[in-house]
Amino acid sequence: MKVIIRNTASEASLWVAHYIAEKINAKAARTDEPFVLGLCTGSTPIETYAELIRMVKAGEVSFKNVISFNMDEYVGLPEDHPESYHSFMHRYLFDHIDEPAENIHILNGNAPDLAKEAADYEAAIVEAGGFDLFLGGIGEDGHIAFNEPFSSLNSRTRVVTLTHDTRVVNSRFFDNDFNKVPKQALSVGVATVFGSREVIIMGYGSKKARAIQAAIEGPYSHYVTVSALQAHENGIIVIDEAAAGELKLNSYKYFKAVEEAEM
Ligand code: GLP
Repeated sequence: MKVIIRNTASEASLWVAHYIAEKINAKAARTDEPFVLGLCTGSTPIETYAELIRMVKAGEVSFKNVISFNMDEYVGLPEDHPESYHSFMHRYLFDHIDEPAENIHILNGNAPDLAKEAADYEAAIVEAGGFDLFLGGIGEDGHIAFNEPFSSLNSRTRVVTLTHDTRVVNSRFFDNDFNKVPKQALSVGVATVFGSREVIIMGYGSKKARAIQAAIEGPYSHYVTVSALQAHENGIIVIDEAAAGELKLNSYKYFKAVEEAEM
């Protein structure tokens, strides 16, 4: 695992955007095959998406041959609700880039048969060739996508029940009313994310410091599902100084030294 530490969330966000663009461009230079990208929602990726939009408009990268799959969606929330992940993704990314509509995949949390929706999603990912890169955030409890503590580290796309804590944290998007936060979501599994050829996990701010510490220094455990990144060969965690606040000084120095040596 690599850990990239930047002074601020903005600097970290730019690093991630440029990394993704480089990977898309590198694949486009060697093959006509599409670049398959896993995407996340939340406040964390917003600045990265803004930079990708700028880069698309400046002609520095194109999403014309990108196929994307989002990681999760609330169950039962209308697709046009401003806080649905469908709305979020269009608002912050898809409405401003050149990715063809048919390449965009987001789970349908209103599907009549949610188990079938989940199975079809997994099949579509395989059909697309599997993920080249999966971009994820991290929950305050260390969850990846909506894989709450005790999700199997071998889990695949399925219906999940949100923890009380996650619903409290996400109530900020629902008029601070816990009761308005859906109780369930459709989410890719831990194994869906970590089956990607490369994974980037972003965490910014002191609120994420404990989860980041657990992900990097803690045990490989279903209690902190993002810790499964420890078994990935191409995993990168990108954080700001605040999110690095709970790391041991020696870990912090090590990751900084590795980055300096590779620059
Ligand atoms: C939700 C999402 C996660 C996201 C997390 C953190 O739980 N399902 O994918 O990583 O929130 O959100 P934020 O980036 O707003 O802190």
